[in-house]
Amino acid sequence: MDPQRQIHNLALIGFMGVGKTSTGHLVATGLGFEFVDTDALIEETVGKTIPQVFQEFGEPAFRDLEVQVGRLLESRRRVVIATGGGFVLNAENMQRLKRHALVVCLWASPEVIFERVRHQGHRPLLQGPDPLGQIRLLLLQRGAVYKQADVLVNTEQRTNREVASKIIHHFQSLCP
Ligand code: S3P
Repeated sequence: MDPQRQIHNLALIGFMGVGKTSTGHLVATGLGFEFVDTDALIEETVGKTIPQVFQEFGEPAFRDLEVQVGRLLESRRRVVIATGGGFVLNAENMQRLKRHALVVCLWASPEVIFERVRHQGHRPLLQGPDPLGQIRLLLLQRGAVYKQADVLVNTEQRTNREVASKIIHHFQSLCP
């Protein structure tokens, strides 16, 4: 681990539906850290749901809000941060996370993601006629950024609890 980094926190990145929020809660409990979710912080700040933000202000405004939230999180200590699936597409957000957090990417194939999200309606980017095609396309576009994480964890055929315990183990061995 780069000694220049001041790692106090743990950040979960990765595509929609990989389990960042549910696993994040378990990791936070296991480490005795607080849990925060960038989408929830945006919703609290703006007083609107994510679909409302997309619909009323548009995706670029949502991405700006993600940068603002990312800046505020840098001063936090002992938090597990679940990020929205597009959060790290902004290079500033990724660089900032890397300064204060161990960055862990949760991974799953497009087919598994599709099965997990197909009955959920709260993700504006997956509301078109071909959500599986859209998942494949976005994963192709985003894969290289997700792979900049410090640790990559495959979530397929693992329960959230198993994924969380792997992450806790990584954190404790890399950031003693
Ligand atoms: C997004 C992922 C969502 C949310 C927004 C955009 C994305 O969060 O931030 O709908 O661009 O991948 P989850 O990954 O928690 O679903």
